[in-house]
Amino acid sequence: MDEYILREGDFLVSQTDERGTILFANDDFCKIAGYTLEELIGKPHNIVRHEDMPKSAFEDLWNTVTQDLVWHGYVKNKTKNGGFYWVYATVYPLYDEERQIKTYLSCRRKPSEAEITEAQALYTTMY
Ligand SMILES: Cc1cc2nc3c(=O)[nH]c(=O)nc-3n(C[C@H](O)[C@H](O)[C@H](O)COP(=O)(O)O)c2cc1C
Repeated sequence: MDEYILREGDFLVSQTDERGTILFANDDFCKIAGYTLEELIGKPHNIVRHEDMPKSAFEDLWNTVTQDLVWHGYVKNKTKNGGFYWVYATVYPLYDEERQIKTYLSCRRKPSEAEITEAQALYTTMY
């Protein structure tokens, strides 16, 4: 399937609630993933999950952010039309001012070709 290679300036943002339900996605995320914002809001974030991604990468993501730490990692995502794209993602836990509502924010940029090759090789060795 077709790979979309991010451009230098691409910056994909999405926000979820505590269960990983999408609350917001910016234009770059929508365009590259191939969805409208309306199609994404309210959906679980695994809507863009690619089957090549190891389960343990997401376990690590969730273990990290639920401990109020920032997670970084390489992610291969699926587009609506069955293509894929690689990102380098940073996921932040966020609280509102009263520390009542917790959300998560992911910011993604273009990884280098070498980083993609390395992540791809590593992920084939993970469950
Ligand atoms: C803020 C945030 C952003 C996420 N972004 C992605 C993403 O781009 N792609 C992805 O496959 N999973 C992403 N996840 C993880 C998903 O919630 C989910 O754990 C993952 O897709 C694995 O799906 P599964 O739990 O159904 O196996 C994100 C989670 C959070 C909290």
